[in-house]
Amino acid sequence: MTSNKDLIEKIMKLKKEKNAVILVHNYITSDIYEIADYIGDSLDLSRKSANTDADIIVFCGVDFMAECAKILSPGKIVLHPRKEATCPMAAMAEVSDLREKKRKYPDASVVCYINTSTSVKAESDICCTSANAVDVVNSVKEKEVLFVPDRNLGHYAKTVSGKNVRLWNGYCYVHDVITVEDIKKAKGSHPDAHVMVHPECRADVIARADAVCSTGQMIDYAKTSGASEFIVATEEGMCARLKREFPGKKFYPVGGICTQMKEIRLYDVYMALKMNQFEITLDESVRKRAKKTLDRMLELG
Ligand code: 13P
Ligand code: SF4
Repeated sequence: MTSNKDLIEKIMKLKKEKNAVILVHNYITSDIYEIADYIGDSLDLSRKSANTDADIIVFCGVDFMAECAKILSPGKIVLHPRKEATCPMAAMAEVSDLREKKRKYPDASVVCYINTSTSVKAESDICCTSANAVDVVNSVKEKEVLFVPDRNLGHYAKTVSGKNVRLWNGYCYVHDVITVEDIKKAKGSHPDAHVMVHPECRADVIARADAVCSTGQMIDYAKTSGASEFIVATEEGMCARLKREFPGKKFYPVGGICTQMKEIRLYDVYMALKMNQFEITLDESVRKRAKKTLDRMLELG
């Protein structure tokens, strides 16, 4: 059996030979951090994939993230090392259902979470991530917004912006099960810890937060808040990333595991680079329409 050390050496060699860049989401298993060019949240990684000089992008994240890289960089080869790494929440919005809702609410502007398929992005007006959902909803001129698919993130953006936001009934199975009791219990054991909550959590959990953060914003908050202990209400893997960045600080997870994110292993990344697998391909007319939706978000800064 090949050791992780051998695999890492082989991956680094292939990466150089093929002029590839490896983009890694924060939730991916921490051994993959070692071969990453960038580790970040959906917004960071979208920006990186739009601005890379590499010929090949290897995307270690779930399917919609790799598709976003292809939408933004159609001239590059985008490889998604494992087809099983998909986001169940993104699958909760079918494009046919969105078209029906648009007919029902013709005056609403459609804001899609980045956790959506390319075809749903193509039917939407503007995209958002967990880092900028409030700013995106505020930027929309129309009075009415249809937010798809995360009901929790949509509710959070609605509450903060005060806009008329219609919610879809999608949710993340990892975040939606985190309860106020989980936060209270963690706070009982660690009373000085600051509470960071991902906005895919329910409203009553968000109400307990010292900071509501995308995964990337959690890094910034851990750096700047002045606290040395944190309760982290998101996917458990985030704590590995935080501990790596801040070895002197303490992080206590209250979230479970996104099994789809953990599908990608070092061996899959090696095979992806060796065999150029599995390449993302998109229908060009759908891709172009989806790109407009992503570009509008990226133009907001
Ligand atoms: P971030 O963009 O905050 O990393 O969130 C992505 C995601 O899928 C969270 O579940
Ligand atoms: Fe999708 Fe939830 Fe996994 Fe994020 S944590 S990729 S939203 S299932």
